[in-house]
Amino acid sequence: MKTPPLRVLAVESSCDETAAAVVANGREILSSVIASQVDLHAQFGGVYPEIASREHIKAVYAVVNEALQQAHLELGDVDGIAVTRGPGLAGSLVVGANMAKALAMSVDLPIIGVNHLEGHIYSSWLYAGGSAPTPEPKFPLVALLVSGGHTELILMREHLTYQRLGGTVDDAAGEAFDKVARLLDLPYPGGPSIQKAAQEGSPRAFNFPKARLSEPFNFSFSGVKTAVLRTVQDLRAQGKTLPIGDLAASFQAAVVSALYEKTMDAARQFGAQDIIVAGGVSANKALREAFRSQTQFKVHIPHISLCTDNAAMIAAAGYQHLARGERDNLDFDVLPTWYLTALV
Ligand code: KG4
Ligand code: ZN
Repeated sequence: MKTPPLRVLAVESSCDETAAAVVANGREILSSVIASQVDLHAQFGGVYPEIASREHIKAVYAVVNEALQQAHLELGDVDGIAVTRGPGLAGSLVVGANMAKALAMSVDLPIIGVNHLEGHIYSSWLYAGGSAPTPEPKFPLVALLVSGGHTELILMREHLTYQRLGGTVDDAAGEAFDKVARLLDLPYPGGPSIQKAAQEGSPRAFNFPKARLSEPFNFSFSGVKTAVLRTVQDLRAQGKTLPIGDLAASFQAAVVSALYEKTMDAARQFGAQDIIVAGGVSANKALREAFRSQTQFKVHIPHISLCTDNAAMIAAAGYQHLARGERDNLDFDVLPTWYLTALV
């Protein structure tokens, strides 16, 4: 790697978004391009892996070109390549990894395979190109990582070090949103649908129970999901119209309060300076408002466009590794079940 500014081109294809981005110095977004397949998968109510891989193949070349063009760079101007290595759908990951390897090989660039969850955490370091840098998260920090497949509370004492404090014992938060949306006949993806429906309802209409767990920083969302199911069944049996807004708002409130309270407890207990909230569910308005309403900790929540899957976050995390001289060989394989806890 050359001296700063270091420009990392990243590719992300772990699920149903084909994305590429160029980020300078791990923080400044020079471009971020996302080709979403969400409309294609909506008809199945979830991501259909075989279709996802094929769509990545169709999109990846154009998406990478677009990212370079928007950054006004040629491939040869870039200093390193980062790519999501896992976790994710194997067939989808392979498409991004092969593209990234070909790019690295063609102009002899260093390449690093990045953990997708680490990427979500590093989205908190990003800011839009040309604008003033946002304040950098300060260590030690507690990160709440809430996505479609993961719900984890992590303590970071410095860059790239992760101590798992707890996580979900059943459904991930995003998964719970998706399942409850399906139950209420709301469209996929469930998170944004529940959020929209909740605007028309009261969070106090139903009192869905909070999970009681022996480990203080673990989460459980299957109880609240079952409580919504029972309520829906009871209302239907009574021939009543479902109060979708009230059900959505009360469910959302139960999930948000569990996420908020445990994160705050962890930050207090571990003497955190800052809190990071990241992953697809961090796009949730009620969750963002809960954290913004307190003044005890500085909270970093990415811009909405960076909460769900994107490649800028992979570039941000990849930069941290590349700047330390870490590199992968071109024969590295993808790791579909590479959980962040494996990095602890
Ligand atoms: O991080 P992400 O894009 O993909 C994974 O790595 O899983 O997260 C997707 C998840 C989905 O479960 C989706 O329903 C949820 O994030 N999500 C939301 C919102 N936007 C996306 N959940 C609640 N409220 C939202 N506004
Ligand atoms: Zn994700």
